[in-house]
Amino acid sequence: MGCTAIIYQSKYGSTEKYAKWLCEEIGGDLYKKSEISISDLKKYDTIIYGGGLYITGIAGFSFIKNNYKHLEDKNIIVFAVGASPFDTGLIFEIKGNNFPDEMKYIPCFYLRGAFDESKIKSRDKILMQLLKKFIGKKDDSDYEEWEKAFIESTRKSEDWTCKESLKPIIEYINLKYE
Ligand SMILES: Cc1cc2nc3c(=O)[nH]c(=O)nc-3n(C[C@H](O)[C@H](O)[C@H](O)COP(=O)(O)O)c2cc1C
Repeated sequence: MGCTAIIYQSKYGSTEKYAKWLCEEIGGDLYKKSEISISDLKKYDTIIYGGGLYITGIAGFSFIKNNYKHLEDKNIIVFAVGASPFDTGLIFEIKGNNFPDEMKYIPCFYLRGAFDESKIKSRDKILMQLLKKFIGKKDDSDYEEWEKAFIESTRKSEDWTCKESLKPIIEYINLKYE
C-alpha cells in the first residue's frame, strides 16, 4: 500500500493507543494531528485518520474534510473511537454526521475506547451534564441510538481498548493492498 501516515487526535488517550498499536502492526509514520500540515502528506499513498468521538463528531476530522481536494488521489481510511458499544448502525451514523457526500466511499471503522469520569476535563463535564439533561427531557422513543448507547456506557468508568479490535482494519488493509 506504499507509504502510510497514521494521524490521530486523542483527548484522553484511547485513540492514541489504537494509533500506536496500528502503527506497530502495519508500519508507517505516526503523527498527532496538531504536529502535521497538509503539505507534509504529499509523500504518502495511504492516509489513516483516527479521532475520538465527541457528540458524534470525529475529533479533528475537519483536517481531512477541509483538505480533501489535496487528498483525493490517496487511499484514505478513517477510524473513530467512542464509548458506545459497537453496532453496525453506528458506522452509518458516524458517516452521516462527519462525511460529506463526496467522501462517503471512504471506509470508516469504529473502535471502543474508554470512559473515566474522574479524568474528564471541566468543559467536557459540562457538555456531558447538558447532554444528560437534554436527553432526560425526551420521551424514550425520541432518543437517537447514539445518545442512549453513549449515556448507558458512561454510567461507570471503564476501559474497552483492546488490540484485537484492530483486526478488521488490518484485514481490510491486507485484503485491499496485498
Ligand atoms: C463530552 C464527551 C462527549 C462524548 N461523545 C461521545 C459520542 O457521541 N459517542 C461515543 O461513542 N462516545 C462519546 N464520548 C466518549 C469518548 O469518545 C471516549 O471516551 C473515547 O475513548 C475518547 O477517545 P480519546 O481519549 O482518544 O479522545 C464522549 C466523551 C465526552 C467526554
